Amino acid sequence: MEIVFVVAIAENGIIGAGNALPWRLKSDMARFKALTIGKPVIMGRKTFESLPGRRPLANRTNIVITRDADYRAPGAIVVTSAAAAGSVALGDALRRSAAEIAVIGGAEIFRQWLDRADRLEITEVHARPDGDTHFDVDKAMWEETERVRHPAGPEDSAAFSYVTYRRRPSH
Ligand SMILES: NC(=O)c1ccc[n+]([C@@H]2O[C@H](COP(=O)([O-])OP(=O)(O)OC[C@H]3O[C@@H](n4cnc5c(N)ncnc54)[C@H](OP(=O)(O)O)[C@@H]3O)[C@@H](O)[C@H]2O)c1
Repeated sequence: MEIVFVVAIAENGIIGAGNALPWRLKSDMARFKALTIGKPVIMGRKTFESLPGRRPLANRTNIVITRDADYRAPGAIVVTSAAAAGSVALGDALRRSAAEIAVIGGAEIFRQWLDRADRLEITEVHARPDGDTHFDVDKAMWEETERVRHPAGPEDSAAFSYVTYRRRPSH
């Protein structure tokens, strides 16, 4: 079972601002959907609350991690540890015959899961926005296997590149 990060990162490492995304990238939303549909998706409580209408992502098993055992997120599975998130996600992926578990943020969750990730699907956003949440990847540990640059579309606030990284064998 592969654990895959799906994340958009600006050139200055920013991934979020005020619990939202500091850009508008309609093209990337389509890619996010394509990479995650039909799979379990693991996210932190803050990222869940940043989703439009605080509604779970459709056609995916939404697994929300919080330390608050009383937290409720209708339509999502709430867990109180990374270990619980991992076992719920594994069971769900097996039931769905999905080959991957997607970890979709935010920064706190990415940092905790990075050691377990097999592949990173990164959208490099060619902008340097202000923000309060950042995430960096140590490129010494990850090998870039694919990179495709795209100009900004009509509903995109910046140009961007889709980049795939796989963990280097010794890491
Ligand atoms: N650019 C992107 O691709 C992308 C993707 C996702 C999110 N974002 C952005 O990132 C920001 C949110 O990221 P964030 O780092 O602030 O928050 P986050 O990772 O989404 O959520 C953090 C919360 O997760 C819970 N948590 C974390 N580790 C836990 C553990 N080991 N056990 C139990 N609960 C745990 C805690 O919830 P409680 O406080 O409830 O205990 C914690 O406050 C937003 O701006 C969002 O828009 C960007």
